[in-house]
Amino acid sequence: MLDQTALRAELANHYDLLPSPEVAEAHADIYAGMKRVVSPPDWAIFAPYVAAINRLKKERNAVILAHNYMTPEIYHGIADVVGDSLQLAIEATRVEADVIVQCGVHFMAETSKILNPAKTVLIPDAEAGCSLAESITAEGIAEMRARYPGAPVVSYVNTTAEVKAASDICCTSSNAAQIVAAQDSDTVIMTPDKYLAQNVARQVPNKNVVWWDGSCIVHERFTAQDLRDFRDLNPDTRIIAHPECPPDVVDEADFSGSTSGIISYVERERPSKAMLVTECSMASNISDNLPDVEFVGPCNMCPYMKKITLEKVLWSLHSMQGAVEVDPVVAEKAHISVQRMIDLSQRLAG
Ligand code: 13P
Ligand code: SF4
Repeated sequence: MLDQTALRAELANHYDLLPSPEVAEAHADIYAGMKRVVSPPDWAIFAPYVAAINRLKKERNAVILAHNYMTPEIYHGIADVVGDSLQLAIEATRVEADVIVQCGVHFMAETSKILNPAKTVLIPDAEAGCSLAESITAEGIAEMRARYPGAPVVSYVNTTAEVKAASDICCTSSNAAQIVAAQDSDTVIMTPDKYLAQNVARQVPNKNVVWWDGSCIVHERFTAQDLRDFRDLNPDTRIIAHPECPPDVVDEADFSGSTSGIISYVERERPSKAMLVTECSMASNISDNLPDVEFVGPCNMCPYMKKITLEKVLWSLHSMQGAVEVDPVVAEKAHISVQRMIDLSQRLAG
């Protein structure tokens, strides 16, 4: 990728990207989804990018799949599909367009490529990694298999294609307990998130769940004491935690679920105050839809997710650079683990 100055100059040669109250006004319908969290001057900066990306998407026959942790101008402005990791993987199997732009982290783009080997899958910043995906390699999976012979390996989708290929099946935060429960073995290896595994172990007490020592740098920062202190001062707050948080944090919460599970819970329950114990953009993205809910609590950002910006999305669609490639042999094996997860989840959901 060009450095930022060169990239900006190149984009300015092709698109009118100066802040514009007129373009902002012309796209007031899009702005309506983020008015509570994006100020009018900021929207005047974002709107020309949003307009250019939405035009270019049509020219390139592209779709944008965006994770729930994207910033509001991406989530509401340019995404065709938003969701948690499982929803994005399922949607990736249904894409008809020639190009997928993954607004999320690298493992999500790899999953889309594994499910669509013939399509171009672009990631706007190849350095949008994940502390969990970086914590384990295929050698780590072999080590776990040697330690627990015969035990199936359930790997979180937050892993590289090589790790998926070396595993028996994948899982996401929304189906991990069901996937583990469905394994035909007393001992089940879960990688790489030790906290997700510990949370699942409590939900599936008849299995001996063993885990790899990985963690998410965003969710491991929350502590049970913080949540207790917060609740003491704000007793009417509903606390909702992602299962990548340590188990004692999840214990303090009123509900735990995947990012989309969290959104559905707040939409259903409509608490007057909600603390989302997860990445900070989640609350921003649903805030305008839920004007009666006040979102409170700390703001922990994922530095990897935040690498994806409107400017980089425009650049990737303009230049068609940043295509994700997966070795075909690895992709074929990884596909089996991902497809097994999708099939089992859909079967269990009825
Ligand atoms: P979800 O599958 O719940 O969206 O989680 C993905 C993730 O990276 C959370 O940190
Ligand atoms: Fe990875 Fe955590 Fe960021 Fe999710 S929030 S992408 S698990 S580092």
